[in-house]
Amino acid sequence: MRSVRQHEPGGELFVESLPVPEPGPGEVLVKMAAAPINPSDLAILAGRTRVHSWPFTPGMEGSGTIVKPGRGLLPLLRLGKRVACSPGPGGEGTWAEYMLTSATRTVPLPGKVGMQQGSMMLVNPMTAMAFIHMARRGRHSAMVNNAASSALGKMLIRLADRHSIPLVSIVRTEERAAELKKTGAAHVLSSSNPSFGEELMELANQLGATLILDAIGGKETGRLLKAAPAGSTLVAYARLSGDQILADPADLISMGKKITGFQLGNWLENKDMLFKLRLARRVGKLLSGPLSTRVHATFPLEQVGQAIESYREHMSRGKILLVCD
Ligand SMILES: NC(=O)c1ccc[n+]([C@@H]2O[C@H](COP(=O)([O-])OP(=O)(O)OC[C@H]3O[C@@H](n4cnc5c(N)ncnc54)[C@H](OP(=O)(O)O)[C@@H]3O)[C@@H](O)[C@H]2O)c1
Repeated sequence: MRSVRQHEPGGELFVESLPVPEPGPGEVLVKMAAAPINPSDLAILAGRTRVHSWPFTPGMEGSGTIVKPGRGLLPLLRLGKRVACSPGPGGEGTWAEYMLTSATRTVPLPGKVGMQQGSMMLVNPMTAMAFIHMARRGRHSAMVNNAASSALGKMLIRLADRHSIPLVSIVRTEERAAELKKTGAAHVLSSSNPSFGEELMELANQLGATLILDAIGGKETGRLLKAAPAGSTLVAYARLSGDQILADPADLISMGKKITGFQLGNWLENKDMLFKLRLARRVGKLLSGPLSTRVHATFPLEQVGQAIESYREHMSRGKILLVCD
């Protein structure tokens, strides 16, 4: 099978020929159809996030058809199913013709969901749903989210609207702000605006936005925390700036604000099986609507380098997918 491989942290990518792996107990072999490039993949490829060992196959999510079951009831039940899938800890990723994974890491795709949308079902849609869950559970009247032109940011705008939770979306240029406003987003701010801090403080206080979702880190976290109402919770869920959080401890000490972190895998680990099944079913239903993702272009595995370049050039334009025939 053809598989994208990296041999060292930050190293070049190669498309290599490898033997098709055999599923063990509880595992399934997925014939891959499509897999997106996500910011977390770029962080891994740049060597900023650790992986199990090198060489390895990247790709945190994708879609395909289960063509071979390992021993066990669930693998057998999933045979022949079109699924969204992700690799297990220490497993090889989705940027390959075939991937081996645990049957529990596959979710059958609803009939009307195609392989391309299905390949992006697990990471961003589940995270958007998790953020809504956190807002409701924590009784936050409104939320703030940055890097909001992302696929996840756009999903959150549509989902928050559906749940009548006001959302302040922050982007880094006036151009992105105008684009988001055109899509119907109610509250959009550009962090490049000199009065951004005051505007955010005024809007967040007016709306009672006490759940602050931060994908950027660095100095941006400090600005968000400063502008947030007293008692707010800031959730760091990515580090797009590549920088460590820089914030004023006074906001934590005297204003009762908190900083915490979010990772989808850890969040799901603490949920029971019924919760996860319900979540997957709900995501499946919303995938053609509020949880859909725009696809900008598709590339075959052999053109993985070009695919990454195209993605880096304009991440907000839509997802780049690696597709197998
Ligand atoms: N913690 C978790 O479990 C979890 C789960 C899902 C997603 N995430 C994170 O959520 C974020 C969005 O993911 P996605 O797949 O939706 O992204 P995406 O659609 O690929 O878009 C990436 C976005 O990041 C923006 N961006 C890139 N570098 C930036 C920087 N230094 N400062 C500000 N904005 C920057 C880009 O905006 P421009 O157009 O301005 O370049 C673009 O809108 C990612 O960081 C991802 O890692 C985390």
